[in-house]
Formats: sequence, C-alpha cells, structure tokens
Amino acid sequence: MKILFIGDVTGAVGRDMLARGLEDLQYTHKIDFTIVNAENAAHGRGMSYSICEELMDMDVDVITMGNHVWDNTEIFKVFDCCDSVIRPANLQPSVPGKGSVLTEKNGVKVGVINLLGQVNCLPCDNPFAAADREIEALKAKGAQIIFVDFHAEATSEKVAMGHYLDGRASAVVGTHTHIQTADEKILPRGCAYLTDAGMTGPYHSILGVKVEIITKRFVTGLPQRFEVAEGKGQINGVVVEIDESTGKAQGIERISFVEK
Ligand SMILES: [Fe+2]
Ligand SMILES: [Fe+2]
Repeated sequence: MKILFIGDVTGAVGRDMLARGLEDLQYTHKIDFTIVNAENAAHGRGMSYSICEELMDMDVDVITMGNHVWDNTEIFKVFDCCDSVIRPANLQPSVPGKGSVLTEKNGVKVGVINLLGQVNCLPCDNPFAAADREIEALKAKGAQIIFVDFHAEATSEKVAMGHYLDGRASAVVGTHTHIQTADEKILPRGCAYLTDAGMTGPYHSILGVKVEIITKRFVTGLPQRFEVAEGKGQINGVVVEIDESTGKAQGIERISFVEK
C-alpha cells in the first residue's frame, strides 16, 4: 500500500495548492491512502468545519492536527461529526477528540496515530507512553499498517520516537517545524522515518507567515500579529510504500513541489 502524507497545510495558499495538485499527486504516485496535517489550514490557526469538508472531498482519508488544534473552535463540531480527524493522543484525557483512528481501505486496515512533542508545544503527557498505548489498541483491532504523525519541535525527540517505534510502526513522520528535512530512511526493523514532512503553503514566507511580520518581530523584539503569507505555493509531504502483509516499509520518498 502507498500512503501519501501532506505536511502542515497552511492557510488559503496551502488549501489551494491541494485543490489544484493533490489529485495529480495521488494519481502519479499510485496512492492508496492520504493523510493530511491540517493544524494551520484556517488562516494558520486550526481547522474549520468547512475546511474539513473541503479536504475530505479531495479523497483525504485521515486528517491529523497538532499544537494549533484548539485555535479554531469549530474543531469541537469536527470531532463530533468526523471520525477521521484526530488530535495528539497525549493531550489531557479530558479534552474532546481522539488520538488515533483505524480505517479500512482497499481491504487493508490502516491505523493512524497523532502525537505531540514535549519541547516548545502545548503541555502534554509523555508521547512515548501514549504511542505504546495507541499501538497496542490499534493492533488489538487488527491494524496491519500503523502510521504515526509526531508533531514536535526537537529533532532529537523525533529521531528517538522513530527508533522507539521501529518494528512496531510502519512509518513515523514528523510535522510542526514547517521545514522539510532530508533524512528520509528506513530504520533497521522496517519503519519508514522522516524528521519533518515540511509545510504545504506559501513558498516565500517564514514558516507560512508574511516575511515582513516575522522579520519585524526579530528586528524590533516586539510581538506582532501573525498573518499568513500570499503568493506562490508549495506542497511538502512524503510517500511511504508499505507491505501490508508484514507492516514493514519498502520505500520512502519526499515530495517537494514548488509552483512556477
Ligand atoms: Fe504547523
Ligand atoms: Fe505545530
């Protein structure tokens, strides 16, 4: 099975890039299953209900979130209505939504887990313990493939998660930094790994935000109101090929497309 994972979709530019380019990517790479991180899809802050519908209409199977999950209050309605949207599994147990989902597609049971790192993110529980729990629960339900979106800042924490889950997860892909890393590999026990899938959004921006706003913040030392950048876009993501009979990855390829 071939899984396409799309890095943090950011604002209108990111959504528009997917509207115009996702189908072609799915076709070209013979994709069976698509996962999108949409924590910044609504003007950089969370995801609205209509954006969720828009993404699902693009043949997206699972949507993952991150530290921006609560930025748009429509997420509560999304969690009530849409089973395929997940938030980090290691948030406080009292919050709505769930941290993993099992989906059957083309006769294959695919489990997707969303986790949050403990460095520079929302307060959260230990993501390693949460991964243990979620993997056990998905395997008990018959998951043949387990794909993990580890939304985290620290590269060391992300690499550690890859090795910790090697042999139990089919893929561990990082999100959150909005900068794609070039360290894609298959770990010794068959887990595909990439530290960060990058961002799908404005190409000339600082992590998706207007260049002048972030630059002014650094130069003056004063807080600024963030606005998502405009202009030409990029699609960042990764394609992972997994043998569903073993749950092990056979290939991993980064996607980095910039609009002309
Ligand atoms: Fe993000
Ligand atoms: Fe994030």
